[in-house]
Amino acid sequence: MTGDTPEIAAEALKTGRLVMLPTETVYGLAADASNPQAVARIFEAKGRPRFNPLIAHVANGLDAESIAVFDERARALAEAFWPGPLTIVAPVRDRERVCDLARAGLDSVAVRVPGHPRARAVIAAFGGAVVAPSANRSGRPSPTTFDDAMEETGQFVGAAVDGGPCAVGVESTVVSVLDGVVALLRPGSVTREEIEAVVGPLAESGQGHRSPGRLALHYAPDAPVRIEAETANEGEVLLGFGPGVGEARWSLSPNGDLREAAANLFRLLREADRTRPVGIAVSPIPHKGLGEAINDRLRRAAGFVG
Ligand code: TXA
Ligand code: MG
Repeated sequence: MTGDTPEIAAEALKTGRLVMLPTETVYGLAADASNPQAVARIFEAKGRPRFNPLIAHVANGLDAESIAVFDERARALAEAFWPGPLTIVAPVRDRERVCDLARAGLDSVAVRVPGHPRARAVIAAFGGAVVAPSANRSGRPSPTTFDDAMEETGQFVGAAVDGGPCAVGVESTVVSVLDGVVALLRPGSVTREEIEAVVGPLAESGQGHRSPGRLALHYAPDAPVRIEAETANEGEVLLGFGPGVGEARWSLSPNGDLREAAANLFRLLREADRTRPVGIAVSPIPHKGLGEAINDRLRRAAGFVG
């Protein structure tokens, strides 16, 4: 592997510089959560609107509860899914350790304990909370390999940690636990069914809290994306799913496996885009389980409002 050690990355964070951070979901562009100047650099590098708050990454559940106020259900979710790809939005407890700009001025804060050992090594060496949005420029597909991450925002970092390809490939599931109501703000690799098994039925949409970051056009490559496609039109690349659909090298999963499709999704969207096709067509993906997150990202890449 190339790239810097977690210790060098932690030093860069301490001096207010940005760090390329591998996680199990996607690569993140990280900064010291308590340093407003450092956090401002993230918004500049990504071209991200300042009303869109960031996720604070911490080492363990205890650290999370020193930043956020967890009720019993938030704690049950943390115990069930951390370390791992679940983000919990809860009332903020410590407004200094995750500064106002990182929270976009909200009274809530998003926290997660990443599953990737190198992400946790950086956080441990740093010793504080690290905010990290996906390392793409705003509106583009999230990077899931070190090279893709460096191509997106590598020019802005003081250190970069290579964690290999991201095993999960789609961003964490975001749930809010506020005023006794648990709502799904962003589907992700921890599925709705898995969450409901721990905390019971989730709030209906509309009853739920809003996530400021759910812009309609998001995760989009340059080429137009067409979803639920059975075949490719002239000049399109077809990202297939399941046996016998399209060219093998462009298949999200030849066997129709949703985990494999999630892991390949953003990488193949980017690779297809590099061939400068007329468009990118994507086979239908089942909506159950992890399919909810995959279809969410594809609908947004195709320009539909979620
Ligand atoms: O897997 C992930 O979550 C990756 C890796 C790097 O950890 N990070 C990531 O961050 O996807 P980002 O910034 O691309 O997405 C964070 C999402 C946004 O939709 C944002 O609006 C939402 O979380 N969010 C953050 N704080 C929130 C809050 N207080 N209330 C509601 N939504 C919040
Ligand atoms: Mg993002």
